[in-house]
Amino acid sequence: MKQLKNLDCTNKKIIVRVDLNVPVFEDKITDYSRIHAILPTLEKLTKNKNKVFLIAHFGRPKGEVNKKYSIEFLCPELKKLSNLNKVHFLDSCDQKIIEMKISEMGFGEICLLENIRFNSEEEKNDLNFSKQLSSCFDIYINDAFSASHRNHASITGITKYLPSYAGLSFAKEIENLDKFLENTNKPNLAIIGGSKVSTKIKVLENLVEIFDSLVIGGAMANTFLLSNNYNVGTSLVENDFVELSKKIQKKAESKNCKILLPIDAVCSKKIEDTVNIETYSTNNIPNNQMILDVGEQTTKLISDEILKSKSLLWNGPLGAFEYSPFDKSTISIANIIQNYSSNSQLNTLAGGGDTLAAIKKAKANDAFKYLSTAGGAFLEWLEGNKSPGFIALRENNF
Ligand code: 3PG
Repeated sequence: MKQLKNLDCTNKKIIVRVDLNVPVFEDKITDYSRIHAILPTLEKLTKNKNKVFLIAHFGRPKGEVNKKYSIEFLCPELKKLSNLNKVHFLDSCDQKIIEMKISEMGFGEICLLENIRFNSEEEKNDLNFSKQLSSCFDIYINDAFSASHRNHASITGITKYLPSYAGLSFAKEIENLDKFLENTNKPNLAIIGGSKVSTKIKVLENLVEIFDSLVIGGAMANTFLLSNNYNVGTSLVENDFVELSKKIQKKAESKNCKILLPIDAVCSKKIEDTVNIETYSTNNIPNNQMILDVGEQTTKLISDEILKSKSLLWNGPLGAFEYSPFDKSTISIANIIQNYSSNSQLNTLAGGGDTLAAIKKAKANDAFKYLSTAGGAFLEWLEGNKSPGFIALRENNF
């Protein structure tokens, strides 16, 4: 794989895939890690007087223009954090319009392209689209490890048309994830939560082979509880994954991986009602209640497991952590890891946009040997699957 760190490039037109899918709550960015992560790459490219275009996605607009998912709001943030005088913005991927913009820009300047997922061709990995995008540029750089598990036009397709390099953050992510894997002393524990159930649930099937214990929290736990015939009231569940949950539990048993599901849960009638809340045992959730966090008994159970572990991986908050007090267990767990890791050799790794936001909220950044900006991509990497984006870079032979 060719890397930007070994590339001398000056006065070139460079297209860079970045991941600016930052967590946003009530119109505010709650964690800037993904922006901070790309700054070294941007600095190298702008200092060397290249004209730099950034491709990024935000949310899942499903191939349609939807202003709710516009990324124009990121221009001032990028400008501020990168110390540049200006960050251009372009809401079109049309070749002629890009060319016009390039000729207007000075060397050493950056232009952010509108959410690439507004184009239906992106997720279809349409090669004509990749070719058209690439035609205005000399070099492609992928600095979005966290999106590289997607076989999309701006991740894989484009590498067929340009000399392609791994950006500085991409390379750093791989280096650190591999380091964790090499040092994953047993007993090891994975804590997996969050709301992107359909993405993560398949990954669990493989994680039970690697880990001695697996804590399942967040919305995914509801599907597991349902698969064990628990009533989960009005909680978020994915019925399509009930059978898979059963299969994962069976497989875990045969692999000697202990699965820990919530034994109690903090509930409310709706997520916005943070006042009328009640804790129930998970075998006694009323029909009109929604599970929004794990309860104190579950937190204690997880804590006991942490104290027995030598390696720990964390991806995804345990509850709806944006809505206090449903952040309680996530913050407690972050602080337990922080206290324990400061007095032990615990090897720790955490990743994912929401997870980083939660860890920051708990002021527990120092508890982790490495904080990855990747969520799903990081889990897939740990399973041993090289991501399509990585393979595309490795196979690029321009
Ligand atoms: C992420 O947030 O994990 C990446 O940006 C990928 O986003 P996606 O799951 O919508 O493809």
